[in-house]
Order: sequence, then C-alpha cells, then structure tokens
Amino acid sequence: MKAFSWNNIPKPLVCLAPMSGVSDSPMRLMAKKLGSDLEFSEFISAASLFYKEENEKSFNLARFEETERPYIIQLFGNVPEHFEVATKILNERFNPDGFDINFGCPARSVVHSGAGSALFLEPEKAKEIIETVKRASNGKPTSIKIRAAFKNVSALEFIEKIKGAPFENVTLHMRTYEQLHTGEPNWEIAKQLKEKLKPLGIPLIINGGLNTAEKAKAALEYTKADGVMIAQASLGNPFIFREIKAVLRNEKIPEVTLEERIQTALEHARLMVSIKGEKYGITEMRKHLAWYFKGMPNVSELRAKLVKIGSISELEEILRSETFKV
Ligand SMILES: Cc1cc2nc3c(=O)[nH]c(=O)nc-3n(C[C@H](O)[C@H](O)[C@H](O)COP(=O)(O)O)c2cc1C
Repeated sequence: MKAFSWNNIPKPLVCLAPMSGVSDSPMRLMAKKLGSDLEFSEFISAASLFYKEENEKSFNLARFEETERPYIIQLFGNVPEHFEVATKILNERFNPDGFDINFGCPARSVVHSGAGSALFLEPEKAKEIIETVKRASNGKPTSIKIRAAFKNVSALEFIEKIKGAPFENVTLHMRTYEQLHTGEPNWEIAKQLKEKLKPLGIPLIINGGLNTAEKAKAALEYTKADGVMIAQASLGNPFIFREIKAVLRNEKIPEVTLEERIQTALEHARLMVSIKGEKYGITEMRKHLAWYFKGMPNVSELRAKLVKIGSISELEEILRSETFKV
C-alpha cells in the first residue's frame, strides 16, 4: 500500500475528530465502517511518556487496529524534549501513519501547563515542537490542529508566525478558545486561512458545529477547505459520515432504521468487548449506548436499563425487548 501523505489522500476528506475519553479504537472502527477516511488517536500527553517511558496508560490510548489506517497519533504538551521522547517511543512501538500536534485544546489543566491552544502565545516554541515531531518520527506526515483564536491571537496570525515549520496539514476548529466546544463557528476565518495555506500546498480540514451533512457540504463550499472533521455530531451517530459522503455526491441521504441502529450499537459493543475486555468494555460502552438511543420515545426508561448492563447478552435482551420497540 502506498504510504500515507496529506497530499495523496483523496479530498474532500471526511473524518472523525479526536475526542479524549470518547474516540477510542472501537468508535473509530465504527466511524471508519460508515465512511470516515482517516482516524486520529485521542490526545496523548507527551510529558507522560517523557516521565514514564513504559507507560501502559499512554500505550492504551495509542493502540489501534490495522484496519483503522491511515491512523494518526495526536500529542499535546509544552516542551519540545517531551515531544521528542514521546514521538520516538510511539513511532517505534505503533508505527502510525502520521503525528498530529494539538494546538487547540482549551481545557484548563492543559492550558495552565502552557499546552494546547496556549501555544498560540509561544509561536517559536510551537515551531520547535513541530520540527521536533517531524524529525523524531523520521519524517512522518506531521499535522497540527488549531483554533480560530486564543485570546487576542487569531489562527491567521498564528499560522503566519509558524510558517516554515514542517506541518503538512492544518485542522481548524472554527471556534475561539473562549467558546470551548459550543457557539457559532467562524466560517470566514476558515475561508481566509484556506487562502493563506493554498499557495503553501497545505490542505485545510475544517471542524466545529458541522452537525448535519448539509451543513458540512455548505461549509466546504463556502470555505473551499479540503475536508471536514466531526466530533459531537458523531456521538452515537457514526451514520453522519456516510450521510456527508452521500450529500457530497449529490445523493439522497440513506435512512437509518431502528433495526440498523440496533445492529450498529451491538456491533460497537462487541468491538468494545473484544478490544477492551468484557468488564471494562461494557462500562465504556454505556455512554455510547445512551447516545445511540437518545432520541427514542421511551428514552429515560431505556437509559436507566442501558447504563446498568453488565454483558453483551444483557444488551441484546434489552434491544430485542418489546418495551424497547414501542
Ligand atoms: C469530549 C471531547 C473530547 C475532546 N478531545 C479532544 C482531543 O483529544 N484532541 C483534540 O484535538 N480535540 C479534542 N476535542 C475537540 C474536538 O476534536 C472538536 O474540535 C470539537 O468538539 C469541535 O467539533 P464539533 O463541533 O464537531 O464537536 C474534544 C471534544 C470533546 C467534545
């Protein structure tokens, strides 16, 4: 298979977003099955691997199935040396198709440590981090994920300041640091960023608030971006990926029947158990089940049952029961 590169992967890209505590390997496999073109790990702390090289917690986050490829590991941190160690360890152990650096996270603990979107204020260091990851991964495709703005620094200013660093793709969360994960995304800044990146031959993926296939298509048309990334709208809804693909091909959106929803949730649950083991897999699956069935008429009764399941057979029983289907 041809090695992954940001330039040779067909566009427009439609992909699942990295989501800490959510977009694990089973969720990524479901997204992939329904149309996501490439997968990102949940973010992994570079410092955690620097201070503990045999770090099982970080390895669990990085682990993936071969069928997820192209698969990109996302790192966050604030110290180039940490990135160097983390990239080397993860590259050697997991051989991902690329590395992504998080310059977008607004979480207080992350920003307080000078990582995530706080690096908008330290462009020289951000540049050094990108160079370090590129070098430590032996030249693997290296990308960055940023925000519309952090405090008074816009994405356009940040990109200008880190120009020349070896990043080969930009994902823009079209909201500011202050907006966190909600509020109106700024399509205009995405459009301007695309114009800025175009002469550099760097693709742009847009993200933020793209919660329907039609909106994703409209945003692609408006911004001229090269792809869309979906986070919250994919929770319990991997169907969004095939819906976006259908709309981009000017086809009718395929309906999601209740039976398909049940089968998809069951498949997701089985993957959880086979990848994470029965006990932990089922616990992890509970929140996804609540998302899969959140629109159901008898939702509170159902949710009360789903959040208590202890096995796949119990889940099958609930999903097959008559009360569920009324
Ligand atoms: C629960 C959760 C966890 C997230 N974790 C990450 C992460 O690990 N890395 C990252 O770059 N962004 C992370 N994000 C941000 C999303 O990737 C995305 O940028 C954001 O949710 C906006 O997209 P949306 O409007 O489609 O949800 C996370 C978002 C949520 C809701």
